[in-house]
Amino acid sequence: MGKTQPNLYAFPGVDALAPALRSYIIQSQAAGIARHGAFKIAVSGGSLPKTLAQALLAPAQGSEDRVDFAHWEIFFADERAVPLDHADSNYALLKAELLDKIPADQKPTVHAIDVAHLDDLQELADQYEQVLVASFASRDSVRLPIFDLLLLGCGPDGHTCSLFPGHPLLRETSAWVAPIDDSPKPPPKRITLTLPVVNHAVRVAFVATGAGKKDIMKQIFDQNDGLPCALVNEGTGERCSWFVDEPAVEGVTFPRRAFL
Ligand code: 6PG
Repeated sequence: MGKTQPNLYAFPGVDALAPALRSYIIQSQAAGIARHGAFKIAVSGGSLPKTLAQALLAPAQGSEDRVDFAHWEIFFADERAVPLDHADSNYALLKAELLDKIPADQKPTVHAIDVAHLDDLQELADQYEQVLVASFASRDSVRLPIFDLLLLGCGPDGHTCSLFPGHPLLRETSAWVAPIDDSPKPPPKRITLTLPVVNHAVRVAFVATGAGKKDIMKQIFDQNDGLPCALVNEGTGERCSWFVDEPAVEGVTFPRRAFL
């Protein structure tokens, strides 16, 4: 791994993980708002939106514990090329799990894909990149956008966003958002943030739970063999934090840290 190492936080279960994830997100939120008056994040699909809802919709435990959704700007770390009300849409998932449950006067800004381009993946990706450009400053003035926080999942094959093991997309160096039409996990057509964008974020958090993750977690942490999640660990070091449950890291020797 790089000069610094990721933080591995393990909890007995999701009920213990969720409050820690909340406090980590609130710290990032404060830093983002102090930095540029908004909290700019990107989220994945999978089981993450449900865990996020559990963390973020819980009642505040004091004035420091406030989720300030009205200042949030939410992007998608990856999205499937489907309509926004489709069962495969990450937007639809986040909406059902979280967005619809946020009070009307606190709604965040949410950047969904432009479904007018569903038939042209390159255009879909380019258009989404322009959405990032509009928020993060022009590509002429910044090399890469700097998200305050990326909230990601880890697939059973070690993929994250729609960056899959051994895929040529892992070598993308210039695009911020890229199309993929051969995703090994259905549906095949998607867009995704690229690895340089992921690794440039202020902070990256993975959420991985369940015994189904333990084999891939051993590969990512103990063998460090070039899987997409391992590449993010390597590229971000201590800026990266993993929120996992004990079953997901059973047999993993990489040292855990206590979440303070
Ligand atoms: C996708 C998801 C994907 C997900 C992982 C982990 O579009 O395929 O965004 O990247 O985050 O597959 O999923 P689980 O958390 O459900 O295991």
